[in-house]
Amino acid sequence: MTDTLRVEIWRGTETGQFQTFDLPRREHQTVLDVVTEIQREHDATLSYRFACRVGMCGSCAMVVNGRPRWTCRTRVSEVIDDGEPLRLEPLRNFAVVKDLAVEMTQFFDKWKAAQGYFEPGAEPAKDFAVVPPATRERQAADAGIECIGCGVCYSACDVVAWDSDYLGPAALNRAWTLVNDVRDRGQGTRLDAVSSSDGCQACHTHMSCTQFCPKAIEPTYAIAGLKRAMIKRALRGVR
Ligand code: SF4
Ligand code: SF4
Ligand code: FES
Repeated sequence: MTDTLRVEIWRGTETGQFQTFDLPRREHQTVLDVVTEIQREHDATLSYRFACRVGMCGSCAMVVNGRPRWTCRTRVSEVIDDGEPLRLEPLRNFAVVKDLAVEMTQFFDKWKAAQGYFEPGAEPAKDFAVVPPATRERQAADAGIECIGCGVCYSACDVVAWDSDYLGPAALNRAWTLVNDVRDRGQGTRLDAVSSSDGCQACHTHMSCTQFCPKAIEPTYAIAGLKRAMIKRALRGVR
């Protein structure tokens, strides 16, 4: 292993340039370790975001050598061969606040637009609902529940790049999780919310979201599930 790691980091907003740093190459260093070392030892003005460092909070995602990734759980050795530079950019399809930090407001507004929140109904149950783990609905809901809101899928999605109004894979995955939640009472309005031209019909099934999700969630299949649910509802004549 070479002793030095060359790192090229985007500095600026929509306009800017790459800045180069040379760091000691360490055996198990993660991409987030590298960014943190640069910020602490070389340039305190470097902006980036992280919180948990253990793959829980979803705040550390960046484009690493051309591909969106969570950086706290990505080792440098997974991304580059020995001697190659590490190249870090902010997530695509987001406005850049500064350097590697992006503006997440639109991303989470779309979760709300997809009615990606639990709707208890007019008379919420007073006791805990028992939803057996073996049921189809529970398994379908569980399949997407571990989303950490990192934005990797959204950054990878070409449809978001073409159409900034598209709700995107994370919001639609959240909606599908709730469609399968037998306790939820907002199914009609949620299916309306995701049926618009900016909803699940806009997905071109490119699979980039599913390919890159660090939590192995499959938004492509969630979106296909929403399309099936819409068709079933239409066949039943429900408006
Ligand atoms: S499958 Fe759909 S949501 Fe996922 S990246 Fe492709 S177009 Fe985007
Ligand atoms: S679906 Fe995966 S990639 Fe998308 S926000 Fe959730 S955890 Fe991140
Ligand atoms: S810092 Fe929390 S997921 Fe990476």
